[in-house]
Amino acid sequence: MILLDGKKTSEAIQSEIAAEVAQIKAEGGKAPHLAAILVGNDGGSMTYVNNKVLACERVGFESTLIHYDTEVTEEELLAKIKEINQDDTVDGLIVQLPLPKHINANRVLEVMDYKKDVDGFHPVNVGHMVVGLPSYLPATPYGIMELLDRYKIETKGKHCVVVGRSNIVGLPVSILMSKCTFPGDATVTICHRHTVDLASHTRQADILIVAVGQPLMIKADMVKEGAVVIDVGTTRVPDATRERGWRLRGDVDFDNVASKCSYITPVPGGVGPLTISMLLKNTLRAAKKEVH
Ligand code: GUN
Repeated sequence: MILLDGKKTSEAIQSEIAAEVAQIKAEGGKAPHLAAILVGNDGGSMTYVNNKVLACERVGFESTLIHYDTEVTEEELLAKIKEINQDDTVDGLIVQLPLPKHINANRVLEVMDYKKDVDGFHPVNVGHMVVGLPSYLPATPYGIMELLDRYKIETKGKHCVVVGRSNIVGLPVSILMSKCTFPGDATVTICHRHTVDLASHTRQADILIVAVGQPLMIKADMVKEGAVVIDVGTTRVPDATRERGWRLRGDVDFDNVASKCSYITPVPGGVGPLTISMLLKNTLRAAKKEVH
């Protein structure tokens, strides 16, 4: 069994990005600039956004964090997004999800200039991804592709089973795995809450990608011997033995599943660290106007 080391891979990607930024600056160019909008005080979202801003500093990007109270109106948020759309000093913009219920997230995503949508959530970017035009790939699926690529895991002709159909992970990763690019060319099955006999599907997977947010739901008897298992789950579960009172749990029962796998991602330290690196990569692409 080989552990897919997201932390090490993420560090390698960030070193590559930092070197490219240093080169851009040495040639008199300007640093890529990411603006991040956060609404409310959810602990997870605040940590993610702060980590994104810190990562920007690490690789030499500029960053701007705009933090609103939960009560901010949709109009106020949309006005700020339109302002950033027009601001030539900002290359990439993200709005951390989820948003409070009184704000229509689809409306927020649609108002963004898709050329600055480095999360790849704008319908134009989703459409471009589907038909293979230049687009920003959403960070988590992009990170999964990068892991498969860097570990040279064969995907052509393999049966890839994706559990979860979210717009952020399950749906885009299933599209990317089915396309005629590397990694890709897989036969893809998408499972979700209404799938009958989930285990009968997961047991057929050469590559199993799980993104549902249900700790430890994938047990050893649901996984084929020799499978590649990618665990996207990162749920905070109470843990009195930890100083902070919680630990991260994946969707896969790692302790019992790992010995059956050819490759598996740990949680933490698997897919998670890659998402920030892929966001940085998208922001660098935005600054280089690769998706214009
Ligand atoms: N919430 C969960 N994942 C993401 C992400 O990749 N980007 C943003 N903006 N919000 C998220």
